[in-house]
Amino acid sequence: MSKKLRSEDWFGKDDKMGFVHRSWLRNQGYPDDYFKGRPVIGICNTWSELTPCNGHLRDFAEIVKRGVIEAGGFPLEFPVTSLGETIMRPTTMLFRNLASMDVEESIRANPLDGVVLLTGCDKTTPSTIMGACSVDLPTIVVPGGPMLNGRFKGECLGSGSFNWMVKEKTLVENYTAEDIHEAEIGAARSQGHCMTMGTASTMACMAESLGLTLPGAAAIPAVDSRKKVMAQLSGRRIVEMVRADMKISKILTRKAFENSIMVNAAVGGSTNFIIHLLAIAGRIGIELKLEDFDTIGSKIPLLVNLKPSGKYLMEDFYYAGGLPVVINELKKQLHNDAVTVNGKTIGENNSNPVCYNKEVITSIDTPLQNEAGIVVLKGNLCEDGAVIKPSAATQSLMKHKGKAVVFETMEDYHARIDDPNLDIDENSVIVLKGVGPVGYPGMPEVGNVDLPEKLLRKGVKDIVRISDGRMSGTAAGTVVLHISPESSIGGLLALVNDGDVIELDVAQRKLHLEVSDEELLKRKAVWESAGADGNKGLCEVLHRSCTAGTPGCRPGYFTGRLRQ
Ligand code: FES
Repeated sequence: MSKKLRSEDWFGKDDKMGFVHRSWLRNQGYPDDYFKGRPVIGICNTWSELTPCNGHLRDFAEIVKRGVIEAGGFPLEFPVTSLGETIMRPTTMLFRNLASMDVEESIRANPLDGVVLLTGCDKTTPSTIMGACSVDLPTIVVPGGPMLNGRFKGECLGSGSFNWMVKEKTLVENYTAEDIHEAEIGAARSQGHCMTMGTASTMACMAESLGLTLPGAAAIPAVDSRKKVMAQLSGRRIVEMVRADMKISKILTRKAFENSIMVNAAVGGSTNFIIHLLAIAGRIGIELKLEDFDTIGSKIPLLVNLKPSGKYLMEDFYYAGGLPVVINELKKQLHNDAVTVNGKTIGENNSNPVCYNKEVITSIDTPLQNEAGIVVLKGNLCEDGAVIKPSAATQSLMKHKGKAVVFETMEDYHARIDDPNLDIDENSVIVLKGVGPVGYPGMPEVGNVDLPEKLLRKGVKDIVRISDGRMSGTAAGTVVLHISPESSIGGLLALVNDGDVIELDVAQRKLHLEVSDEELLKRKAVWESAGADGNKGLCEVLHRSCTAGTPGCRPGYFTGRLRQ
């Protein structure tokens, strides 16, 4: 071995501190040779019973250890903050950076030479990659894998995607409470994360397309024995990466990020991809801008027929050939020379995959949609940008003008959306304020708010919705998200009133509020004098119904009360 191991600074010394570092670890029963030149591999585990999607990762850590030991390494597993999407309040996004700091400092402070990241639920992938980037050791990702397809009434049911339709199913299709109960059970019938192309699957595809996993890892279901094989091989491989000094910064080049943007478009990935990829790029020092997602990805066709953009689920995607098929279809667009964790290029890894089901993964010559990548909008309503996912939107609404129906907060929305007197129809534009990073706080996944009961009963499936919040990767609709600057810090969104006309033109990348500058200045003055001088003032303005002392309320964050 040519390069000195980082861990030798802890274990390789014959002085008092060497004694201390070795002696206490010996209480686990490690023999002498474990402290003599073996690469020490940290197994960064996001296992938690409070993160159901990662509930199997404790077992997976043992399998990774097998591989590490086989290759001559010394595995040491450590727990990090785990973020359970469906359980945490007010939203896991509030804690992603905190989790990444936990990962970063856990790696940096300990005698590790390389790291295996065990990931699953949405935020556990970006938070661990971000933390690993900041330390820049050899790193490999083991995605925990999706659940088996949900089953309900003899058909497949997508976790995540179904729950967005519960209101519609109940009102329009007369689903009973028993039906919903059956769906609840059938939606999650094995270990793993959401099996739609939601954010967790998107993040797994992101990791694979960045080159951070072994080829084909993203789509393997959590309970498939081949997932365990992949975990064991990843354990072997990380030891070799340490010996080759193959740091994560050697994988995460600008080319890798561009590849990932294109692959995300082709699989119909989540809009959350933008937020997390930008954060990873920032940590590793690669310049990446919001506009790059449109420039690089928006012209890429949709090739994968998975919910919420399409019909099938991750299990089908795996059986059809998984991400290698998609990467091969995109070979004329991708940087095929981008290096991946196994030491080969992404082109070499994915040069000859077989597609076993062309209904699930189409060829680039017969795409499901021609231009499917996330679009970045600009206009007076979003000077710093907003995004929309065309593959999940209604094509007839991609160019639309309608009158705003404004909800100042999520509480306001819940209180009034089903009011029979609400002045709303299929041409309206729902405007939801106060759900951005500061406003909620933490930018929750609420942008795809349900339609009002009276429209659902009329058979309306989608209307334009705009907000400064996010949307679950499992959701669909003509939903404009991430409006920036957000309303709570004085973005123009804060000034929209009921009845204002809003124009959305996706082809022209335009989101525009048809109100004169003069009128907007007047509204701005009123808004500021009403107390836009920080969180406290806004709390009074936006959360008039706030019940002080309600659990979850954080003074200064003006959460008002628990959301979701
Ligand atoms: Fe964990 Fe969807 S809730 S992946």
